[in-house]
Amino acid sequence: MAIQICPVEDIKPGKAIRVKVGDHAIAIVRTKAGDVRAIDDKCSHGEISLSEGFVDNETIECWAHGAKFSLETGQPLTLPAYEPVAVYETFVEDGVIYLEYDAA
Ligand code: FES
Repeated sequence: MAIQICPVEDIKPGKAIRVKVGDHAIAIVRTKAGDVRAIDDKCSHGEISLSEGFVDNETIECWAHGAKFSLETGQPLTLPAYEPVAVYETFVEDGVIYLEYDAA
């Protein structure tokens, strides 16, 4: 199911927002190159919102203890996180970001 998120220009390159799909928090991220990525908002190391972290090209860094995650795979790239977080497909149509999300 594709869920409409927001106009792409509402998220500046290098920034992220937190959206809720039901009870599930997802970070919608724009890489510094402007591409759109979606990743579980909760850091796998603690109760911290990754959307409040630091976006680099294809990584997001948790502000709490510095774990970096790949925005393409969700894999942790640095300690202290060692569990991946889920990533989701997105697409942009007519300037609007959509998130592919299956509630099942
Ligand atoms: S809570 Fe994210 S690195 Fe510790």
